[in-house]
Amino acid sequence: HRILLLGAPGAGKGTQSAKLADAYGVEHVTTGDALRANKDMETEYGTPRSFMEAGELVPDPVVNEIVEAAIGDADGFVLDGYPRNLDQAEYLSEITDLDAVILLDVDEEVLVDRLTGRRVCDDCGANYHVDFQPPEEPGVCDECGGELIQREDDTEETARERLDVFYDNTEPVIDHFRDEGVLVEVDGEATPDEVFARIRDVVES
Ligand code: AP5
Ligand code: ZN
Repeated sequence: HRILLLGAPGAGKGTQSAKLADAYGVEHVTTGDALRANKDMETEYGTPRSFMEAGELVPDPVVNEIVEAAIGDADGFVLDGYPRNLDQAEYLSEITDLDAVILLDVDEEVLVDRLTGRRVCDDCGANYHVDFQPPEEPGVCDECGGELIQREDDTEETARERLDVFYDNTEPVIDHFRDEGVLVEVDGEATPDEVFARIRDVVES
């Protein structure tokens, strides 16, 4: 399977990609996590951190290289967080083919609630939400006992900036796949398991 998962910040891409990678035994390729792991890497444009903390896109050459290295030798993958603009989409089409392109559709105010309430494990990266997916013990990861923290870009102000960047830069990518007739839209406003069942139906149809 070569699956592309598209959606706004907070739509549930990370949550669903992890489930898909598990279910199908494919690589989870996510530019957001890759960049967070290399936040302070010096590039000719500056560090990824400087862009991410402002909610802006990291320059294409940096991100394209990450994706090419990650999917280059993967048998199958679920790609999340990329492409985010038309130039990245063009680059992706040159390096691989896709079997499924899925858009997770979620209303803007729901997105802001999901982002500002998200907590992530500092050790293993597992995802939680203070209201929608709370851990058994507040502040502690169910999986590994690690500390749950808030991402620096999940403040309301930066979350709204990220949504603006999404509507300006990434919606054209969605339109591009829709015009090609390959986009399948999935309603992302249900429990994570319900949304996953909908995605599975698409992948296996
Ligand atoms: P990235 O990490 O990709 O962030 P994003 O696209 O903003 O996506 P998120 O991780 O915020 O949301 P998600 O859709 O994965 O939602 P999640 O499953 O966590 O990118 C971060 C930054 O890196 C960018 O701003 C940019 O600077 C840079 N970057 C990354 N890729 C780039 C690229 N290609 N080019 C340039 N720059 C790039 O869910 C969110 C919350 O909701 C969680 O708390 C979760 O528990 C909860 N939740 C999930 N599903 C449900 C549900 N069904 N019901 C209730 N709650 C739910
Ligand atoms: Zn953990």
